[in-house]
Amino acid sequence: MGKEPELKTSRLLLRRWRKTDLEPFAALNADPVVMEHMPTVLTSRETALWIARIELGFEEYGFGLWALEHGVTGDFIGLTGLSVPRIEAHFTPAVEVGWRLAREHWGNGYASEAAAAALGFGFSESRLDEIVSFTVPANTSSIKVMERLGMTRDPEEDFEHPFLEGDSRLRRHVLYRMSVGHWNDLH
Ligand SMILES: CC(C)(COP(=O)(O)OP(=O)(O)OC[C@H]1O[C@@H](n2cnc3c(N)ncnc32)[C@H](O)[C@@H]1OP(=O)(O)O)[C@@H](O)C(=O)NCCC(=O)NCCS
Repeated sequence: MGKEPELKTSRLLLRRWRKTDLEPFAALNADPVVMEHMPTVLTSRETALWIARIELGFEEYGFGLWALEHGVTGDFIGLTGLSVPRIEAHFTPAVEVGWRLAREHWGNGYASEAAAAALGFGFSESRLDEIVSFTVPANTSSIKVMERLGMTRDPEEDFEHPFLEGDSRLRRHVLYRMSVGHWNDLH
């Protein structure tokens, strides 16, 4: 697996995936609390396939969902980064910023810190014009991250997730956007 791109923040390292990440990442994806707002928890095999897909994405796009590691302890914390959502919706094609952290690492500002680095990379290195994020209205922790980053929501852009038609609990989504212009105004 490649090494670049790699991002450093004051407390964190966003890096490419290593074989040793599978075990802690599979544990996180099997945690029903972490996965409360997802359709199902993932098996270890599903996690392994996802890591392989993420790594292919890095080669294709030059960005991706980075493995998140603590800069001092080296602990595996979770994932944060950029991806291309495979859904068709009024705002696609698009690039999405996303995060998923192991429960013991919530409440430290790590997701917001890592996501800010990912947005910065997306705008300055990947030259994106806009980055979106979306989730279910009940996922208030994730919405708080979006708002902390300065992303904005127009309720008229709320949408029904096409992959989740049968699951009314998860269907309705809110959409947040960050444009390069707004990002540059904020930083
Ligand atoms: C969404 C998720 C990443 C948010 O994690 P989080 O730890 O709440 O978010 P942040 O890393 O931004 O941390 C912010 C919290 O840390 C606190 N904090 C503590 N020290 C801090 C510091 N030095 N800097 C910033 N915030 C700090 C903040 O006050 C805030 O707490 P609050 O929400 O109670 O006000 C996490 O809940 C998660 O992984 N959920 C499951 C996966 C998921 O739903 N992903 C999104 C799918 S769309």
